[in-house]
Amino acid sequence: APVICVVGARPNYMKMAPIIRALAAHRPPLRTLLVHTGQHYDSAMNERLFADLDLPHPEVNLEVGSASHAVQTAEVMRRFEPVIDEHGARAVLVVGDVNSTLACALVAVKRHVPVAHVESGLRSHDRRMPEEINRVLTDQISDLLYTTERSAHDNLAREGIAPERMVFVGNVMIDSLLANLPKAAPPAALLGAVGYPSERLAGGYGVVTLHRPSNVDHPQTLGPIIEALREISTRLPLVIALHPRTRNNLERFGMLDRLGAPGFVILPPQGYLEMLGLMAGATVVLTDSGGIQEETTALGVPCLTIRENTERPITVEQGTNTLVGVDPAALRAAVDTVLEGGGKRGRIPEYWDGRAAQRIAAHLAAWLDAHEKQAQP
Ligand code: UD1
Repeated sequence: APVICVVGARPNYMKMAPIIRALAAHRPPLRTLLVHTGQHYDSAMNERLFADLDLPHPEVNLEVGSASHAVQTAEVMRRFEPVIDEHGARAVLVVGDVNSTLACALVAVKRHVPVAHVESGLRSHDRRMPEEINRVLTDQISDLLYTTERSAHDNLAREGIAPERMVFVGNVMIDSLLANLPKAAPPAALLGAVGYPSERLAGGYGVVTLHRPSNVDHPQTLGPIIEALREISTRLPLVIALHPRTRNNLERFGMLDRLGAPGFVILPPQGYLEMLGLMAGATVVLTDSGGIQEETTALGVPCLTIRENTERPITVEQGTNTLVGVDPAALRAAVDTVLEGGGKRGRIPEYWDGRAAQRIAAHLAAWLDAHEKQAQP
């Protein structure tokens, strides 16, 4: 039976690509079955990234699409269970904290299939965040908890999880980053292609991504953030890769035209190699994403996180990340600090070395062998 590897949404793909490769390269190879839940389905959010990352075409697509959290999670569960019946499963491997992660872990554990969770133990301690619920629950029911930073072990221990289940392996997202950086798309070519004169960015630029529901789902929060960005854009051009959730909301709130200011370069969601190129060349990155906090730390580019908390504290303690919160004045001041040369340089955290997926493959193979031997009468 295969190790079933699950992806559902954009931030899963860069984590899974190196894992699939490492499982295949292991001797003897671990057979995998790649399942896409279809949580993300737009080609910009989806196919482009598969191609960029050399991720094989998923053997199974559950095509759940967008819905409320309850319906989306339930649909993934309903459609994933027969996949286990049909193909069998040596283990189910899930990554990150999206709805698909929890849904598939829950189906597997009830089928007595071992569950491995990659990127385990991260906690924002903010239970209003849907991802926090997915993280807490997935970790409780997983057999193997692969972690990216040591703080995760303290979080897990506090929730009563036995240390034997935790394995510090490092960060698979950084495996992808290091493997693909030489192929990163130069920003000038990207801007040229959408009709922006690339000279506009010659004096430096910022990259912005925003999609957290807490920031973009209400005009009272989104409005002031956009105003702060507009003001910043008069001093530093800002390239914004607009997430579909944010674009839909800006339209709904009648705010889309505010992005017409001359300091803004508005792009659709970008491919992985384009995003890497944009971030690597940036003066500063402003974001509410989780993964980008890590990628900027690996790139040594200052990151200003537009959130009150982070589940990735190592990016603040050792990396280039600063938690700015959602106060527009604080955001403007933080950008000023960077422009005055005070941006964080940071250092690379332990095991963010491009070999996390190899560590996972070696550990998982040995664990499954031992586990299966024990299960035999
Ligand atoms: C999901 C993840 C989040 C991750 C983000 C990355 C959960 C709880 N959230 O949030 O952790 O950081 O993905 O993008 O799993 N939409 C499209 N096309 C798509 C996908 C979505 O247009 O391919 C639009 C739909 O209007 C949808 C909205 O975006 O309602 C939100 O999509 P959804 O998958 O529910 O959550 P994200 O906000 O993307």
